[in-house]
Amino acid sequence: MVTVQKAELSHVKGICEVCTRGYWATYTSAPRSYIQRIVDGFYNVERVSKEVQNGDYWVVFDGEIVVGAGGGGMISENEGELYVLYVEPTRKYQDIGTLLLDAVTQELKELGASIQWVSVAKGNQMAIPFYESRGFRFYEERKAYASLEGEDRVVLRYKRSI
Ligand SMILES: CC(C)(COP(=O)(O)OP(=O)(O)OC[C@H]1O[C@@H](n2cnc3c(N)ncnc32)[C@H](O)[C@@H]1OP(=O)(O)O)[C@@H](O)C(=O)NCCC(=O)NCCS
Repeated sequence: MVTVQKAELSHVKGICEVCTRGYWATYTSAPRSYIQRIVDGFYNVERVSKEVQNGDYWVVFDGEIVVGAGGGGMISENEGELYVLYVEPTRKYQDIGTLLLDAVTQELKELGASIQWVSVAKGNQMAIPFYESRGFRFYEERKAYASLEGEDRVVLRYKRSI
């Protein structure tokens, strides 16, 4: 039985682990140096602790184990964004991603969002069908926020009404 809940500080280690494993499993064609820089920069205890204290993260537990993590927040008065969504690679297609997306979305709606955004790496054929089947539509292409000169990594911005 899996359960979704708002993340607490005691969950930070599990969140960092699931996001790090999820990132490595997803971006297999990116240079290792890029992946390492992203996971070190984004999914470290210090940064995730701040985000958890800020109320940004949700987690899915199977017993004592974190099997998925997701987070979001408001980016304008009526727009929310899904910042992060990772499911333990061995636990995909068991509705864990949907549970997390629904929890984040419900909260964003309560905060006043009627539009929800997400950025997906171009070519992420795991996440793009997932988002499209949940009503997200392609909006624009952008250079990835963490992309250095010469790396030219591209993200696709998707949005939906919520
Ligand atoms: C995207 C992700 C969060 C989905 O989580 P999940 O728990 O596997 O998703 P669910 O079980 O809730 O839903 C399965 C969905 O995955 C999608 N999917 C993509 N490829 C699929 C495949 N080969 N088989 C089945 N479903 C597939 C489908 O859209 C399916 O939706 P459906 O229920 O409408 O058929 C998960 O695959 C993941 O962690 N991916 C790696 C990290 C990532 O890309 N995160 C998003 C960054 S923006």
